[in-house]
Amino acid sequence: MDDFYYEGGALRCEGVALDEIARAAGTPTYVYSHAAIQRAYTELDEAFSGLDHLVCYAVKANGNLAVLRALASLGAGADIVSGGELYRAMRAGFDPKKVVFAGVGKTEAELMAGLGERILLFNVESAPELERLERLAARFGKRARVSLRVNPDVDAGSHDHITTGRERDKFGIPIEQALALADRAKQYRCVDIIGVHQHIGSQITKLQPFRDSVERSAGLVEELKTRGFDIQYFNIGGGLGIRYKDEETPTPKELVEAIRPTLEAAGTKILCEMGRFISGAAGVLLTGVVYRKKSGEKDFIVADAGMNDLLRPSLYDAHHEIRAVEQNGSVTGADLVGPVCESGDYLARDRELPDAQEGDLLAVMDAGAYGFSMASNYNSRPRPAEVMVSGERWSVVREREHYADLVKGELVPAFL
Ligand code: LLP
Repeated sequence: MDDFYYEGGALRCEGVALDEIARAAGTPTYVYSHAAIQRAYTELDEAFSGLDHLVCYAVKANGNLAVLRALASLGAGADIVSGGELYRAMRAGFDPKKVVFAGVGKTEAELMAGLGERILLFNVESAPELERLERLAARFGKRARVSLRVNPDVDAGSHDHITTGRERDKFGIPIEQALALADRAKQYRCVDIIGVHQHIGSQITKLQPFRDSVERSAGLVEELKTRGFDIQYFNIGGGLGIRYKDEETPTPKELVEAIRPTLEAAGTKILCEMGRFISGAAGVLLTGVVYRKKSGEKDFIVADAGMNDLLRPSLYDAHHEIRAVEQNGSVTGADLVGPVCESGDYLARDRELPDAQEGDLLAVMDAGAYGFSMASNYNSRPRPAEVMVSGERWSVVREREHYADLVKGELVPAFL
């Protein structure tokens, strides 16, 4: 079931016409479907049924408090990668006992914040990080629960920028070094190595990389257990892809069935930390057409949303479907570009697009993950509003920024 659909030629999100939201909230605006978030989370959660498990949501994909609250209420855990994400997760009401903290560069302040909240697990990515965690935990009289994030050296086959589990990537500890590190940690008094974590990349559309990496990491779970470590958690990471265009992606059920025997044999609680799968298809970016212009052979649709609002097309050449909010049936070969002063500022390039005219509305589909969370103020553009729809109701869940927000915290020194 699609939560974004046409009725009488008008694009809707659940029970609300997107045109109504655009008129009231303006554009550009992100619109999220509560039902779609719930459905994706539930599909994942049910795929793991029969296994002791916890689905964590990768906050980086979309950290809006309303999105987080919706997931926390469903019982989800949170996967965080910074002190800021910990702050968001706590504000949204996640149980700290369901929070896992990854990241190669956690600072002392961030480690301390995690210790302070008594989070479920630190996914430790290096020997110096483990040493620092021990020192801080000892100083503050805390215990740190630790998963070792291993780098299984498997190529997830996605875009180079978002592939994380190859030896040359900066993430995790090579499996061969993990055993030695765990052994060394035996002398630490305040850290308990109780888990193994991996995350090999994002927008993964094949099962084989999951199979291979889970198998390798499970080998480490077994080896650590043999050496007397009480391994209680195996975190298989996130990364399950979604269909942006015509990708054939495995379902959560297919993913879990492909690795179930390995997960069962591990004999631990299974964690996963999906972001895109949960929020990606649950959001669109509404944008208005400012101008149409022609330049030689090129036909441009100039929108009021640009790369600062949705960076994925510019950064990864990512494909997002473009739909007319009011269908008029005609299409045109054009580029959908934004107002930002860069030639790389586009939302769709050399594509068959709705023949939208000045004043028309377009929806950039599947923008619920890594959309607003990667938005910036480049070109001094206020970041867009965010809206959540639930059935017939909708609500602004983040106000559009004002010009005053652009200069917040800036100071002109006295010597000027
Ligand atoms: N866990 C860790 C440790 C991660 O680094 C990530 C994503 C996830 C989980 C969630 O991955 P997901 O299930 O969402 O694929 N900006 C890029 C995606 C970057 C992903 C970074 N890490 C994009 O727009 O495609």
